[in-house]
Amino acid sequence: MYTSRSYCGELTLEMVGNRVELAGWVESNRNLGGIIFMKLRDVTGTVQMVVDSSASSELLSTADQARSEFVVRASGTVRKRDPRNVNPDLPTGAIEVVADSIIILNASLVPPIPVDVKDQTGEDLRLKYRYIDLRREDMRDAIIKRHRAMMAARRFLSENRFFEIETPVLNKSTPEGARDFLVPSRNSIGEFYALPQSPQLFKQILMISGFDRYFQIVKCFRDEDLRNDRQPEFTQIDLELSFIEAGDIMRVVEGLLQEMVREVTGREIKTPFRILSYREAMDRYGTDAPDTRFGLELSDCGDIFSNSDFTMFTAALADGGVVRGIAARDDGKISRKMIDQYAEEAKVFGIKGLPMCRYTGSAAEGGIAKYLKPDDIDKLRTRFNLSGQSILFFAAGSPAAVSSALANVRIKLGRALNLIDEDRLEFLWVTDFPLFEYSRDDRRFYSKHHPFTAPRADCLSMLASLKPEEAERVIAQAYDVVLNGVEIGGGSIRINNPDVQSSVFSLLGISREEAEMKFSFLIDALGFGAPPHGGIALGLDRIMMLLLRRKSIRDVIAFPKTTRGQCLMSNAPSPVSPEQLEELNLKVIGK
Ligand code: AMO
Repeated sequence: MYTSRSYCGELTLEMVGNRVELAGWVESNRNLGGIIFMKLRDVTGTVQMVVDSSASSELLSTADQARSEFVVRASGTVRKRDPRNVNPDLPTGAIEVVADSIIILNASLVPPIPVDVKDQTGEDLRLKYRYIDLRREDMRDAIIKRHRAMMAARRFLSENRFFEIETPVLNKSTPEGARDFLVPSRNSIGEFYALPQSPQLFKQILMISGFDRYFQIVKCFRDEDLRNDRQPEFTQIDLELSFIEAGDIMRVVEGLLQEMVREVTGREIKTPFRILSYREAMDRYGTDAPDTRFGLELSDCGDIFSNSDFTMFTAALADGGVVRGIAARDDGKISRKMIDQYAEEAKVFGIKGLPMCRYTGSAAEGGIAKYLKPDDIDKLRTRFNLSGQSILFFAAGSPAAVSSALANVRIKLGRALNLIDEDRLEFLWVTDFPLFEYSRDDRRFYSKHHPFTAPRADCLSMLASLKPEEAERVIAQAYDVVLNGVEIGGGSIRINNPDVQSSVFSLLGISREEAEMKFSFLIDALGFGAPPHGGIALGLDRIMMLLLRRKSIRDVIAFPKTTRGQCLMSNAPSPVSPEQLEELNLKVIGK
């Protein structure tokens, strides 16, 4: 090892009597009148240093001057702590280092956020002073474990014949469904590079070039609305393989995730993962990324309400919509306030309201109970397996809106009723996605995944004359991997036939000229011996967030952006000088 220094957090009882050299930051410094206790911190953790009264006055004086976050180099001898002073909460709590030398290498201003406590410091302040925030134990832990996860992934993939190959960052637009970040250049006025939303096209090209197993731990850029699990730049573990079928890719990914989970948490996960079809996921959980750590499945109630006196239901059904519901035994725990809040949130998904009622163990009351006939209540009891005091929520409208609204209620109920075992890691595959979605607003088909995804062989014949109402019947060879209700990866088998690729483009309304302009290189390449191939990309940030049980991916990224896309430390994005704009022949027309 090219280092002779010892590390604070690695000192153990076995090293008692050894002389060690340490370097780091002063976490705390207490002068108890002649004896000084200094907690020293480096990347491995902290250790207590002692300067006792027998030390030289020079050493005592230096130790006394070293305030919080000063940088010091120190040496001393490891000593066993007096049993009364052992700190069982500290990994190095059984020892201390008796200092014989301390040199202050640099001073520090008083830190604007505390380093040594898990306090309520607002995130904005933490992001502004990220260099100090990263000194905190939980952030340091996240960054180091992220490194280990990446190393485990590289090792696993390399051992399984994958080559890591870099692809360009200054790119042409790749259609992943988000907006591009564009980059102008003074060498090509009026033209722009796009930052890659993913290396999708390049990795397919690599397959055509014969690198039959590619991977890359790669930054991707998407200018989309940000959330706790979405950043404008994020990291994918991106794979592509030739001469395989979907099942082969799924096995590789299971092995990879097994390795990463072992490395990060020390836990063993079972493979193969459970598989749910897209249809089943939507029907049972209302989402294509279900959290299966708890039950509370949705049920269709259209038949029960087809002759209802409650017009919201009958109108939705008459309009070709659906009525679906969810029920939970809550023993009265779901309050009026929560019910109102759920209903308010449902509106975001385009649902007018969230009719509800309570089941008392024998009868229905509240909400829409007055519209329910005894026979309806019997049917609901059987459908939802009702027992005890339960609450029922219904939604009526288009299948997509109803599903999203009830999926949200399901998660809210799961959390409110403590049904989610936070200790579980529930991986699952969702397969058999529709290849297309049809938008009634835009009157056009969109790719559910991306335009290079292959349809299932038995659906190929439908491409020639696909009607909007049949959109969901063309099944894609696509698969997502989900962990605890979060999509952590998605991929597909690709089209490797130029004719099929052309018909998909034409269904998507991508004209020959547009395809030619945007991805002619891929279409051309498909004509020169494209092997059957497919791949997947895993969201590294999301995986780390879930494995480390953090609330946001910002807590597993060294330098993240806020939900407004800003870096509070560097203040990016920021205006550029008029000269820079002029050089690029660009003009900002108002803000
Ligand atoms: P997809 O678009 O599904 O597939 O992305 C793959 C995975 O990347 C993660 N992810 C994100 N993580 C954080 N912030 C974001 N803004 C963000 N967007 C996506 C998710 C997602 O599952 N080229 C295809 C893959 C393929 O077909 O091989 C692709 O990028 O975890």
